[in-house]
Amino acid sequence: MKRLQLRRPDDWHLHLRDGAMLRAVLPESRDFGRVLVMPNLVPPVVTGDQAAAYRERILAALPEGQPTRPVMTLYLTETTDARDVARAAADGLIAAVKLYPAGATTNSQSGVRNIERVIPVLERMSEIGLPLCVHGEVTDPAVDIFDREAEFIETVLDPLRRRVPGLRVVLEHVTTAEGVAYVQAWENIAATLTVHHLILTRNALFAGGLRPHYYCLPVLKRARHREALRRAAVSGDRRFFLGTDSAPHPVRAKEAACGCAGCFTAPVALACLAHVFEEERALDRLEGFAALHGAAFYGVEPSEERITLEKGEPWQPPAQLAAGDDRVAVFDPGFALQWRVIP
Ligand code: DOR
Ligand code: ZN
Repeated sequence: MKRLQLRRPDDWHLHLRDGAMLRAVLPESRDFGRVLVMPNLVPPVVTGDQAAAYRERILAALPEGQPTRPVMTLYLTETTDARDVARAAADGLIAAVKLYPAGATTNSQSGVRNIERVIPVLERMSEIGLPLCVHGEVTDPAVDIFDREAEFIETVLDPLRRRVPGLRVVLEHVTTAEGVAYVQAWENIAATLTVHHLILTRNALFAGGLRPHYYCLPVLKRARHREALRRAAVSGDRRFFLGTDSAPHPVRAKEAACGCAGCFTAPVALACLAHVFEEERALDRLEGFAALHGAAFYGVEPSEERITLEKGEPWQPPAQLAAGDDRVAVFDPGFALQWRVIP
């Protein structure tokens, strides 16, 4: 029997949604301390007041005794008011602003079309040290979907960083070797890595047929990219840390002619991660990746609490959870889970 103690992990990229879905999925992040809550609701969380109200709804849905604490973000639009952002940051209400290129992913219609229009907000964020979390994909339909991250780095992110050099940036859910190399080359940039991109390659999307539950954005990539992500995750480099991007959708919206992007990994995230780190012979690096590096980037203390992971008999998570009148499919990593968080 193998056991591992670590400080309570944080999830630096999480979709909690709202209403019945929020109530269904929030308990599934029970092993995490801080969770950075994505603002892509409909309508999006654009102002400080909206973030405060959303935070209240999350706290109201939080089961008694669950240690999880929501850390809020704002959704950047071309009309975002820099003063409102600065006020929300000064109040300790938000820890980051999220940039969605318009049309890049789920509920990104209100995102940014012309980066020039948000430069004043980014300059203000740079002054106050507020990080920008970036969905790093170009939206030009002429660009191959597998190239959209690399193209974004070259044509949007790199020029942006030269324009606002002091801006602290998180390249969210990095999926490519190019993305990893870009982050490694700079100081005030970090990247989150998801559980599903550490486990799967794009083959999973087409294994024996079309697999909508493995469709996410950025889309899964080739094996060589997954290897680059794994190396970054276990490297001990503090610029890489966990952001699950757990993104629940109703089963009916995933299994559709035009299925939504997102993998709901929260219920199995830590079990899957321990499996990956063990495969990489790097269990001693798991705490850094899941509980230390992100806290350091966001300037907060790592949790004083500890969780215990134990490896034992294979266990099966439920295939689906109820969410109001809907069901949500739990991520299937394609291997038997043996690690679990023990109470
Ligand atoms: O797969 C994804 N799902 N990628 C995103 O960027 C958004 C997310 C969602 O909100 O469903
Ligand atoms: Zn996301």
